[in-house]
Amino acid sequence: MLDGTRSVLSSVVNSQIELHARFGGVVPELASRAHIVAIEPVIREALERAGASIGDIAGFAATRGPGLTGSLLVALEAAKGAALALDRPLEGVHHLEGHLMAPFLGVAAGFDAPDWPFVALLVSGGHTSLVRCDAPGVYTELGRTLDDAAGEAFDKLSKQLGLGYPGGALIDRLAEGGDASRFALPRPLLKRVGHDFSFSGLKTATSLTMTRLGALTEVDVRDLAASFRAAVVDVLVARLLGAARHERIERVVVSGGVACNVLLRSRLLESCGAAGLGVSVPAASLCTDNAAMIGAAGYARLHGRVRSGGGFDAAGLDARSTWGLGELRPADG
Ligand code: KG4
Ligand code: ZN
Repeated sequence: MLDGTRSVLSSVVNSQIELHARFGGVVPELASRAHIVAIEPVIREALERAGASIGDIAGFAATRGPGLTGSLLVALEAAKGAALALDRPLEGVHHLEGHLMAPFLGVAAGFDAPDWPFVALLVSGGHTSLVRCDAPGVYTELGRTLDDAAGEAFDKLSKQLGLGYPGGALIDRLAEGGDASRFALPRPLLKRVGHDFSFSGLKTATSLTMTRLGALTEVDVRDLAASFRAAVVDVLVARLLGAARHERIERVVVSGGVACNVLLRSRLLESCGAAGLGVSVPAASLCTDNAAMIGAAGYARLHGRVRSGGGFDAAGLDARSTWGLGELRPADG
């Protein structure tokens, strides 16, 4: 729950990690069933922690897409029910616009408060893209991954090493005690101009290194984790700085689950400082998926709609499994 000034009154995250861990990834049917079970208790807990009742809510926001339709529909229909019953507006939010808005709710220690315009690096389990953000709702995608998302690459390596799912945080922790210079892994696409990413070549090179090593010692695992993390972070930071330079924009935002990465954070502070760029990374709890960021994006849109006298059609709001950020309209339009 957010108050009118966008500060977070309560944020409840119901993780399905344990449910999906034994399958090594998200099982869509199980995900939507778990959403149905969780939705009401989560709403109740959010209200309770905020000391509010549902009638206090002036406007609702729910994720409209992109994502798994079965899961999206659960929260969207719950929000519709509440909005229609209470006669309040409902905003259907783009998941990635939520990630873009997350740093406006709070940045991690050492980072700058965000401001428009900025170039965003969105790095999660499902996305790796660079987006030029001129104003709320005015986005241009500059580049994206041609194959795996960065978080997915971490998750796959973790699975291969038998460490568990999701693997980003596990690899990150192991890498802290490893030697990143032991294995010379490739930095895919860095020599090519443009703003796209690719992680499949790095994945193959890492697999070949593992095969060459045979049975892995604990030190091998740490060194592999560190070398892999260094390669991913090198690519992410170089591409982000390249995009900011190309667009002549002096502020960058990095958001999504991978933005929790310890090496990525320290390298961002270092490189952006040297390049004279302002850099915003949300606090860790706002980097991974959360409802507060969806509320922040919904708040900006609700406000814009009220100001411009636009109407609301809560009942007609549908889920969108595929939806590009570039398709959005300005939030105040
Ligand atoms: O944004 P998010 O919570 O969900 C998606 O929308 O995908 O991101 C989850 C992803 C997972 O792939 C996870 O392995 C990765 O973020 N992740 C990390 C770290 N913490 C989470 N990757 C690298 N280092 C981390 N510390
Ligand atoms: Zn996400």
